[in-house]
Amino acid sequence: MRNDLATITLTINNEEKRLIVRPKHSLLDALRDEGYASVKRGCDVGDCGICTVLFDGYPLRSCLMRAVDAEGHAIVTLEGLSDGHRLHSIQQAFTETGGFQCGFCTPGMILTTKALLDRSPDPSEDEIREALGGVICRCTGYVRVVEAVQRAAAMLRGESLEPTVVLEQILPEDTADLKLPEGFYRRDGSRTPLPPLVLTPVNMERTQVVGKPEVKVDAGKLVRGRPVYTDDVRLDGMLYGELLTSPHAHARVVSIDASQARELTGVHAVLTHEDIPRIKYASGGQSYPQPPPFDQVCLDNKVRHEGDRVAVVAAETRELARKALRMIQVEYEMLPAVVDPEEAMQDGAPGIHDEPDTDGIYDAEHNIVHHIEAEVGDVEAAFATAEHIFEGEYRTPKQQHAHLEPHACITYWDEDDRLVIRTSTQVPFHVRRMVAPLIGLPVKRIRVIKPRIGGGFGNKQEMILEDLCAHLTLATGRPVCMEYTRKQEFTSSRSRHPQIIRYKIAVNDGKIEAADLYLIGDTGAYGTHGLTVQMVGGFKGLTLYNPPNARFICDVVYTNTPPCGAFRGYGSMQCQYGIEVLVEEIAEHLGLDVVTFKGDNWIKVGEPMYLAKQMGEGREGYEQALETSGLEQCVAAGLEATDYYAKRQANRQQGDGSLRRGIGMSVMMHGSGIAGLDMAAATLKMNDDGSFNLLVGATDLGTGSDTILAQIAAEELSIPVEDLIVYSSDTDFTPFDKGGYASSTTYISGGAVRKAALKIKDQIRKHAAMMLEIDEPESLVLQDRKVVALDGRSLTLAEVALSSLHQQNQHQIMATASHLSYVSPPPMASQFAEVVVDIETGQVTVERLLMAVDCGRVINPITAAGQVEGGMAQALGFAHCEEMVFDSEGHLINPRLGQYRIYMANEMPAIDVIFVQTDEPTGPFGAKSVAEICMDGVAPALVSAVHDATGVWIRELPLTPERVWRALQ
Ligand code: FES
Repeated sequence: MRNDLATITLTINNEEKRLIVRPKHSLLDALRDEGYASVKRGCDVGDCGICTVLFDGYPLRSCLMRAVDAEGHAIVTLEGLSDGHRLHSIQQAFTETGGFQCGFCTPGMILTTKALLDRSPDPSEDEIREALGGVICRCTGYVRVVEAVQRAAAMLRGESLEPTVVLEQILPEDTADLKLPEGFYRRDGSRTPLPPLVLTPVNMERTQVVGKPEVKVDAGKLVRGRPVYTDDVRLDGMLYGELLTSPHAHARVVSIDASQARELTGVHAVLTHEDIPRIKYASGGQSYPQPPPFDQVCLDNKVRHEGDRVAVVAAETRELARKALRMIQVEYEMLPAVVDPEEAMQDGAPGIHDEPDTDGIYDAEHNIVHHIEAEVGDVEAAFATAEHIFEGEYRTPKQQHAHLEPHACITYWDEDDRLVIRTSTQVPFHVRRMVAPLIGLPVKRIRVIKPRIGGGFGNKQEMILEDLCAHLTLATGRPVCMEYTRKQEFTSSRSRHPQIIRYKIAVNDGKIEAADLYLIGDTGAYGTHGLTVQMVGGFKGLTLYNPPNARFICDVVYTNTPPCGAFRGYGSMQCQYGIEVLVEEIAEHLGLDVVTFKGDNWIKVGEPMYLAKQMGEGREGYEQALETSGLEQCVAAGLEATDYYAKRQANRQQGDGSLRRGIGMSVMMHGSGIAGLDMAAATLKMNDDGSFNLLVGATDLGTGSDTILAQIAAEELSIPVEDLIVYSSDTDFTPFDKGGYASSTTYISGGAVRKAALKIKDQIRKHAAMMLEIDEPESLVLQDRKVVALDGRSLTLAEVALSSLHQQNQHQIMATASHLSYVSPPPMASQFAEVVVDIETGQVTVERLLMAVDCGRVINPITAAGQVEGGMAQALGFAHCEEMVFDSEGHLINPRLGQYRIYMANEMPAIDVIFVQTDEPTGPFGAKSVAEICMDGVAPALVSAVHDATGVWIRELPLTPERVWRALQ
């Protein structure tokens, strides 16, 4: 036994265990090394709480305790909660309510719940929120988590419970007749979770499986804490990769001496820019050909932001790899850093990409990556004759995704000498194509496997670790595992583009005649997604009110800050924030009712989207018009639920105290996939028992997309969801899908699934017709796992499957279908926010957020509500408290979850969701998207509410107490 090791004895899940641990090992490390994969690593410093275990019955953050100190104690992990195959009531409740999305926080949530309910069987909602307040969930907004705890408590008390509720109501033709279920008025001011409310037009066709709150297909493994994420496996001979990052925001690497690190026993590779071919690439996971610029190499001789890549090491243990990093001597030549995008564009600013081999930069000397111009109509002429002209400048922060599963990747050679990349990615097919030239292997020798993903929100639509991890496997011949630390997530992954948004709007007789948008997008040190994020922002920001005269001018600018990338909301939320606040300001200035003014101007059904052709994503787009919109009904529902006008009236007569109430609203639109570009395919294969494998390249980041894709197939085949075995995704076994981004999965991947199901249906009918000796297969109907003939005879799907596989006209009933759309139908929505502002401190307390959304037909109201609730929570962070803050030299001063402020369960306002269904003709069963529109409206609604409370417009986000206080002065 090595003398730096210790043996401890403790009880884990009621079994006595002896563990060999290092003195500095955390309990988290020791438990994961021992195979308790449910114990998740999120930050290593006690900020996130997802590593929570029960320690002698109490919740404990296992990253904060040394393993040696657990000697003699009793630990419970999530693996110890269920009894064989039977779920514990708490696990059952989380499953039934949709109390999780990606599931990465779920072990911590469930164990925290167990401790709470053990000591308090009937907790109040405040007690529940207080108890959960130690565990961050980035996906759910905590709504269904709180509901899950309430349900679990009731189950454990032996109360009989109804199935999970979704409220459904017919949408009246005249919105003046709209009355909502009583709870939605929130007259008691509570924040108790409400079921989602689905409002349906009277003539909308009924469905069997689509539209139902089906339990997520991956629920069982996630609530049990099974080893389903990238880093949950350990391979024989696996090495640990670690990344040396730059401490400086801008410097040249003059020399690197890695000799000492290389000599360290147990270190198998140290790679620097001298060891890896210099091949330029763009890291954004986008369709071929990638939008420019090609401004990165795997390891460079220049660093352009704190956290930039310098060297990688592979060693026997993580500790050894980190020790080796400390032994690498790097000599830097310091260069001046620029962190302000407007300064970066000035003459004489430091050139961030001054090397000759970078491709696709518009003006490298002024750090302008892209300059974009687009115009429809005649903007100058419209301004020349305008009755009123209004201008406003708005600024948005750099927000971090903070998905709880860090970027993680494992690479290894398989038995056929093909490189396997097991990675937490939203874009497995793009990663395979993009990594190939960097590592010198053809695509056919690379297999990318995407396991479950612990959240991504766009940050995993990027090649972050895969190339480096692969280089280490190439160098060592061994499996290598790499995982980012939380600090690296802040400094070395991606973030939301901060924007400076300048609108100028012409209004004639209450109509918006022209809009001019100048946008500065700060892309950070690299240009990934810089072009497309700003184009999407400009398009949505000018199409929500869709004036016939519109102009977009944009500069995408480098700064010495960590690169920005894809982030849910994708430019759209920034620009819609700007236009919505300016429209509010205009209505106030003109003395108009703001809701009426918006309603007179927002885009209507049948209108062409004027900029659609000029402003595709990074390329020319396609002519499009708005086919469906429930926006008017969404606004009506929100006005009714919040009693908006009465509250606005009451807020005008507030007393003299320091607390002021306010209510605000906004409207928004998004898209459903990228028109004419996003393609997805799906394969369905019938099994002997009439069940089906559904193989999709689509990537479920926790959104529930695997479930809703199964529901689409199940609806078409008249089977329950349990008859579908969903597998996603593996570039060797699943068909191509562009990946999980651009709000495309329900609409595009769902379209592919529906087409594949229709093909299968035809094959089943043909085979059944032969079996029943019927001439017209099309006369057969699929119904309740059967094929039914007009004369009443029927065959089960199992009988058809057995016959086709073993008896008559033997063949595999199987189909693959692809789908692409030349339109991207916008979901539409209204957002309401209610706040209390303390005018003495600037503190804004958000009391309620309500969103009414038209996402077409809702495929699964629980997973869709989860998207909206979680999206509103993330957007609330963007609007209210989240911001990556840099000093003048480009150092991030808040690179920890504890310093970077994320809403916790006990701080959340009431969050409510109303769906207004429409029937989008191009979507599967009428569906549009829902994943991103929920990001777009919170910021302007919040600003509007703060203005209602205080009379002050705040044009820079987030609304921190200091910023609000200053504005009030
Ligand atoms: Fe909570 Fe994803 S479900 S972090």
